[in-house]
Amino acid sequence: MKKIALLFLPLWIVSVNSLFAQADNRLAWWQEARFGMFIHFGAYAVPARGEWVKNRENLTTQQYQKYIDAFNPTDYDPKKWAKLAKQAGMKYAVMTAKHHDGYCLYDSKLTDYKYKQRDLIREFLDAFRAEGLKVGLYYSVLDWHHPDYPHYGDMMHPQRDNPAFKDTKHNWDNYLTYLHGQVRELVTGYGKIDVMWFDFSYGDMKGEKWKAKELVGMVRKHQPHIILNNRLMGDGTGKIGDANALGDFETPEQGVPEEPRRNAAGAIVPWETCLTLNNNWGYHANDQQWKSTELVIHSLVNCVSKSGNLLLNVGPDAKGNIPAQSVEILQEVGEWLQRNGASIYGCGASPLPKPAWGRFTQKGGKLYAHVLHPHIGHINIKDYQDKVLQAKVLTNGTEAYIENTWWGDPTTNNVYINIQKPTYQHYNLPDLTDTVYEIELKK
Ligand code: GLC
Repeated sequence: MKKIALLFLPLWIVSVNSLFAQADNRLAWWQEARFGMFIHFGAYAVPARGEWVKNRENLTTQQYQKYIDAFNPTDYDPKKWAKLAKQAGMKYAVMTAKHHDGYCLYDSKLTDYKYKQRDLIREFLDAFRAEGLKVGLYYSVLDWHHPDYPHYGDMMHPQRDNPAFKDTKHNWDNYLTYLHGQVRELVTGYGKIDVMWFDFSYGDMKGEKWKAKELVGMVRKHQPHIILNNRLMGDGTGKIGDANALGDFETPEQGVPEEPRRNAAGAIVPWETCLTLNNNWGYHANDQQWKSTELVIHSLVNCVSKSGNLLLNVGPDAKGNIPAQSVEILQEVGEWLQRNGASIYGCGASPLPKPAWGRFTQKGGKLYAHVLHPHIGHINIKDYQDKVLQAKVLTNGTEAYIENTWWGDPTTNNVYINIQKPTYQHYNLPDLTDTVYEIELKK
């Protein structure tokens, strides 16, 4: 019996591998990258009350028009944004080509509802590619401007409760043609697009309602290498890795899952948390609840420790400037990554359980112990002594000291790692945000 099981095991691994091999190849750069910039930019930066302002204040398209008219980002210089993203240690960026308000930042031939002076998306793509970053486009499948998108009775539309729209007829096929046509423009007219980020599905507005299979087929035909998120599917989480999945990665929002995301077969699937720096995606003048640099670094580490990515948002103001607070946080994150990037890029979950003092990330034979929480003395990795060759402090290369404590349990194969010897003295960790030990494992 045992022999038969052994014979079957490798076959199983081969078949699962080949199932995911294609997607794995396409996703390789993205899983190496781990950290990207999300950019929510549009006419909603003018009222400066977030990108849902039209919905929240139930504005009609006419009422919203004054913001469209006033939108003139004279400071728009995506080269600056690209430099900042690079400085922050980000490896890719995704920008809103069209958000829910339907206003296009690119020169769509299918509408006049666009910024006409410049093609902001083309400039974004050029600038970020020039910095060696991968590029992605966010496209809202909702459209609160198109006359054929359902208004009254829809779950999200700004006029969902407005009886004046009760008897308005909408030609859904017309809208679908528009949606597919616009996406075609983006994937055929702008060179290589690395990521397509659709947003979002709700209620019965999901999957085949968008003619999602056809849409995905068209996108992949023009850009075979492209990576797609999962939001053309219904529940916002998708079932990546399952047979009927439409995208390549899952998209948790404003939170990090407790565990790596897994498919029905138990394999870890690609995922990316998107996160705002304050509490809004689009520019919000009164939202000053900025996350600390430490919280952002911890969130990035938390994602990578579960084999996920972090897509961190900036919401430039109406003139096209990224808020100073965001710039400062990003630069500080970049400084940390400069010293500790080896524990992030290309890393993923370690088989070890989550430790009390922080997180583990791992890349091949290098295990990274992130000391995230205030802590004295050693860190202990249970039952690992026989696997560890040596350890150092990643930020400065200092040899870390491996020794049991006299009060520890020497029989359990624990490994006690400390900054210096003797271990009973108090040593300040070199980086109170996250001191990383690089632990070399035996082959
Ligand atoms: C939500 C919001 C949207 C934002 C997006 C980012 O779906 O509707 O405003 O762009 O999340 O993930």
